[in-house]
This record gives sequence, C-alpha cells and structure tokens, in this order.
Amino acid sequence: MTAIVIAVDGPAAAGKGTLARRLADTLGMAYLDTGLLYRAVGMKVLDTGASPADADAATAAARALRFDDLRRSDLRSDAAADAASRVAAIPTVRKALLGFQRSFAATPPDNAPGAVLDGRDIGSVVCPDASIKIFITASEAVRAARRHRELRQRGLAAIHSRVLADMRERDARDSSRAVAPLKPVEDAFVIDTSDLNPDMVLAVVLETIRARGLV
Ligand code: DC
Repeated sequence: MTAIVIAVDGPAAAGKGTLARRLADTLGMAYLDTGLLYRAVGMKVLDTGASPADADAATAAARALRFDDLRRSDLRSDAAADAASRVAAIPTVRKALLGFQRSFAATPPDNAPGAVLDGRDIGSVVCPDASIKIFITASEAVRAARRHRELRQRGLAAIHSRVLADMRERDARDSSRAVAPLKPVEDAFVIDTSDLNPDMVLAVVLETIRARGLV
C-alpha cells in the first residue's frame, strides 16, 4: 500500500512543527522535522571549527549524518538555526539529505500508514507527489513575536528586535537561494495562521484532508 504523504512547508515560526506533529498524532502517522537534519549538519560543521558556508566541510558532514545526531540537545539554538540556513543553501548538502527524507516518506517507520514531513522544500522537491501539500505562513510581526515568546519560555534571553532581524535574515536566505528556495508550490493549500490558534489551524487542515478523502 502506498503511504499517505503530508507535506508541510513554510517560513520560520509559522507553526509548521506544531501543525505537523499534531497531524501525525491525530492520524497515527510518522513525523519528520526535516529542519533538524539541516540543524544537525550545521552543528557538526561548527564542531569541526569550519564555517557552515564551507561546501566541502558541510557536504562531508551531511554524508556522515547519523540518526543519533538528531538527538543533540543544542539543535534548537539560534546558532543551530543560523548554521542550518547556511548549509541548506549548498546543493550537495541538500542532495546528500534527500534519500533519507524520501525513504522516510515512502516507508514510514513502525508501519505507519503515512508520514508528515515539515520543512521548506517538501512539496516542491522532496515529495512532489505528496498526497497533500500545505504551505503555512503568518505575518512577520506575528512570527517574530511567537519566536520571541518561545525563546523566553525556554529561559533564554531574547531581544525582540534581534529576533526579528535574525528571522528576516534567515527567511531572506531560505527564499532567495538558487536551489530549492522556500516558496509555495502551485497546488499547495495555503493557510495564514496570523489570527489562528493551533487548534483552529489543525481543525482547518484536518477538514481539508478529510474533504479530499485522504483519510
Ligand atoms: O525548520 P527549521 O527552522 O528548523 O529549519 C532550519 C533551517 O534549515 C532553515 O532556515 C532552512 C533549512 N531547511 C531547509 O532548507 N529545507 C528544509 N526542508 C528544512 C529546513
């Protein structure tokens, strides 16, 4: 049986992870946060003392990536986010990570009936034949406020203007890179979460998935 694949793409702090995780829980599907792959590669490069923009170092780190690397506790840091966005602009890094993502989607772990993948290029490159493609976004002000609150809740010192500037820089890099830039594909279901809470977002998306007869 072919697995159902739900692609969730969007910019930083739009609510991708929250939606994707809750969709997977509700539908009994496997979940892959593909941003973690890029974060882990970025941190592996920083560990060696190289720059995340160094294509050879980053490609070697991507090829050597192991599942355990995704369990590091520092992957949610700003340093990891910044390094991830830099290694993600290198075509050979993206290529090295493609096989893992595609096989996760095609053969979800634990015999799950489907997989939810979130990232920037799931609907466009990783799974262009996904059963449904969701592009989730929100205004820049809302996304910066969410990220700021999240950092504070984790006990990290964060200045709002700095969070906004970092997010802008990362979004600009993710959207303007030559390979697999962040942008909604034509057949994506686009949802703006600026005025919606996570329960509302989940409800709207579940309704769409059910209306399409996918579950
Ligand atoms: O989703 P995230 O914030 O954890 O992603 C970290 C960075 O990784 C993001 O700035 C861009 C990159 N990324 C990507 O290029 N493609 C993906 N599928 C997922 C993440």
